[in-house]
Amino acid sequence: MYDCELFQWSDDYLTGNDVIDKEHQYLFSLLQKVFDVISQFGGDQQIIMDSLDTLLDFTESHFRDEELMMRYYHYADYENHREKHDLMISQVEEMQKQISETDPIRTTEILRFLKIWMINHILKEDTKLVQLAANADTNQQSSG
Ligand SMILES: [Fe+2]
Repeated sequence: MYDCELFQWSDDYLTGNDVIDKEHQYLFSLLQKVFDVISQFGGDQQIIMDSLDTLLDFTESHFRDEELMMRYYHYADYENHREKHDLMISQVEEMQKQISETDPIRTTEILRFLKIWMINHILKEDTKLVQLAANADTNQQSSG
């Protein structure tokens, strides 16, 4: 059954950092877009590939923003967090491979996996990073 609200954003996923939160919201909308495109144009590889390219581009730029923030705050868990980003990128690339092998069903499974991955990642990893950054800024202000 077609689930039109599969990638619906919830404020439960807010980290408290406006930039990161807006990017996460946009990522959800791009995941939804890929899902919609597969539902509507399941047979048209090119349209699906284009939507995956858009998802991949934005995901990479979002992760770069987070990684920049981690380096700026000398985030101790940087390597671990970054590895998780790389995993998501490889999943999107895997979707592109599946599409080129004409398997849109497997692709929707990956989309579902990515949604769960995103929610867990935001709640566990990104929230930790945003809190550390906020604490560091507070300490900076009180000591300066
Ligand atoms: Fe992250």
